[in-house]
Amino acid sequence: MSAYRSIHFSFLPMSMRVLFTMVLIVFGTGYLMAMIQVWENHAGKDGNPMLSAKDLMISYSGNPEGTKLEAALRASMADMLPAEKRQVIFDWLHAGAAQEEFEGKINPILQEHCVMCHNPDANPHLPNFSNYDGVSKVTAKDEGMNLHTLVRVSHIHLFSITFIFFIVGYIFTHAYVRPTWLKCVLIAAPFAVLLTDVASWYLTKVWSGFAWIVIISGAIMGTSFAAMWVISVWQMWFYKAPAELCDRGGQLPSLNQA
Ligand code: HEC
Repeated sequence: MSAYRSIHFSFLPMSMRVLFTMVLIVFGTGYLMAMIQVWENHAGKDGNPMLSAKDLMISYSGNPEGTKLEAALRASMADMLPAEKRQVIFDWLHAGAAQEEFEGKINPILQEHCVMCHNPDANPHLPNFSNYDGVSKVTAKDEGMNLHTLVRVSHIHLFSITFIFFIVGYIFTHAYVRPTWLKCVLIAAPFAVLLTDVASWYLTKVWSGFAWIVIISGAIMGTSFAAMWVISVWQMWFYKAPAELCDRGGQLPSLNQA
């Protein structure tokens, strides 16, 4: 009658269960790596080492309170000069970092406390503070990820994550989960939140509160992934199929039956 029949894991050939398990192991490892990368890219931007909504707001929409120079002078570079000179630099930044005031007020401080490290001969990888051009690179307002980067990251993200969740979801269709709607929610949720996640990256530029949608979307996606992963591996290797399944030769209930 029906052309498409789905069979429970424990009735699949051993070779297929091995294939599914290996794919899940590699995807699981990939997911952990992706989480580490998210952490490395975003954590600590607000000065606190933990990953927070503020960090994501700064990553996507920039930091209205500051520039790279101010962020560094409040963190790793704070001890490089006396507090009152630091304040002179902050005042200059807050007043718009005008070039006219740079020579008289700011340059002498940088020459005395910073240029010994921040010049191309000492360290070509650091911003060069021996002239105004170099300094202006760290006094520009931090506007977060630009649209060009966002578009590039979103298309990669949309394609690759759809691909991963198609495979993981397909493997998971062989699980026996009651009620059926719960199984369907676990399969559908990652795709739904993938869209809200990517949309929120852009919306965070308009209102930074959307960073919370990014976080909630990520949490839902991770929970679905973990649930489908654990249920699949468990039912593939450690689960004794209930009698009602065995009676049907492992065939999972379809909608018009269940
Ligand atoms: C002893 C050498 C040294 C001195 C002196 C020094 N810096 Fe740095 N600075 C570094 C190093 C190394 C880094 C990169 C690692 C880090 O951020 O801690 C850095 C990073 C920075 C950054 C971040 C650059 C970026 O692209 O994110 C800024 C801004 C900065 N320094 C400003 C200053 C200012 C302003 C002074 C003077 C008050 C100063 N530094 C003095 C060594 C130095």
